[in-house]
Amino acid sequence: MPLEEIRRFDPIGLIFTGGPGSVYEPAAPQIDPAVFSLGVPVLGICYGCQLMMQTLGGQVIPAQSDSAREYGKSPTVFDQNCSLFRGLPEESITWMSHSDYVAAVPQGFHSAAHTAVCPTAAVCDEGRSLYGVQFHPEVNHTEQGAQILHNYLYDICHASGDWTMADFRAKAVASIREKVGDGRVLLALSGGVDSSVAAALLNEAVGSRLTCVFVDHGLLRKNEGDEVEAAFSGRALRFVRIDAEGRFLARLAGVTEPEEKRRIIGEEFIRVFESVGKEIGFVDYLAQGTIYPDVIESGLGEAAVIKSHHNVGGLPDFVDFREILEPLRMLFKDEVRALGRELGLPEAFVARQPFPGPGLAIRVVGEVTREKLDILREADAIFREEISRAGLTQQCSQYFAALTNMRSVGVMGDGRSYDYAVALRSVQTSDFMTADWSRLPWELLDRVSVRIVNEVRGINRVFYDITSKPPATVEYE
Ligand code: XMP
Repeated sequence: MPLEEIRRFDPIGLIFTGGPGSVYEPAAPQIDPAVFSLGVPVLGICYGCQLMMQTLGGQVIPAQSDSAREYGKSPTVFDQNCSLFRGLPEESITWMSHSDYVAAVPQGFHSAAHTAVCPTAAVCDEGRSLYGVQFHPEVNHTEQGAQILHNYLYDICHASGDWTMADFRAKAVASIREKVGDGRVLLALSGGVDSSVAAALLNEAVGSRLTCVFVDHGLLRKNEGDEVEAAFSGRALRFVRIDAEGRFLARLAGVTEPEEKRRIIGEEFIRVFESVGKEIGFVDYLAQGTIYPDVIESGLGEAAVIKSHHNVGGLPDFVDFREILEPLRMLFKDEVRALGRELGLPEAFVARQPFPGPGLAIRVVGEVTREKLDILREADAIFREEISRAGLTQQCSQYFAALTNMRSVGVMGDGRSYDYAVALRSVQTSDFMTADWSRLPWELLDRVSVRIVNEVRGINRVFYDITSKPPATVEYE
């Protein structure tokens, strides 16, 4: 954003986020140095901090050894005299993810935090209200992250904190109405939290000019298609269910590359919607329940593409609608749930664990076939049933089974088996940007394992996934 535009925006403070690049690379994003003289507080996070240091005359260099790079949880000591860290305990855990570090701070700055390997984990220049942190205060694993952001916003930028979900709802409805006019909207409804909340919001904005299309791509969980139909068919929405399993599986045949699978599914979705749009007459807008983490992970500006979420990155060049509507694209998952409650959606919908748009295709590692999907559906249903029986559905943010591409030898009865290994995954998170694996009771895992190998033909081995995100992701592809 050029300086003039920032000025017009009239911010009360700026935050420069992290990013995958190194400030000394030729193509690295840069910033007009004059931004630091606007008289507006600036908080640089990770790359943003390094950029501020370099731009103002400090020095940023690559960590010389593996031990100087930090990924994950780092005990960090804070200087409580820095107003960013006021009221914090002297030491707490931060979440680090960096391979460059600040070797020298510019004039006016001093180091305001350190870890065992990083002498400059934060910088501050109180006189100019410029602050930088090497760690990520915006992720849950940074214990005092919310407090640090609170200090920045309220004490340093003097924000008033008067934003409410009711405001968001009113503004979103008004902006949808203004945009859509008397046009007609087609919404891709998966039955998950995001698209259900988007449906409720759009329904409030445009009423009966909204048609919800539920595409059963054959990649859903056991009985899911029927459940979604049952939940929505009785409502004051136009609900259309399309059986497109054959189409999707035919296009996925032989495809093993994860991004290619996602691209195909995304494109096929759009093709199905286009033909539905033609059948139901002219449709002006295609609406999607895209949320902010989807946007970030699919690559926002210069950010790295981690996975192209099918409802964002997979769009083909030509889309047969006037425009795409994504009313939730600025919200995180917990905010989407709050909006759902605000809109009066039943708790059963609002509290649902997320399910990805590409469905089980990204939980079957490698080629997707009907046989593998059926095996996975059964194993997944058992795992979810046992979690529910153990009363853990609210404690685990997301839990499912994934079919690995590994087959191994086992012994069943008196015979040899050569079957698939299934992986069980359960994570704790509130924003899905980072996640920790759930410490499920051994007895529960034992029960699930015994049931799966006994009840599901085609599986003879069960793994429990104990990796957090990062470095893993929640899904397998
Ligand atoms: P990852 O695997 O990226 O997952 O750590 C984070 C969250 O996003 C969900 N997810 C998706 N949701 N379309 C979606 O609507 C997608 O393509 C997609 N990929 C992952 C995933 O289930 C988890 O909740």
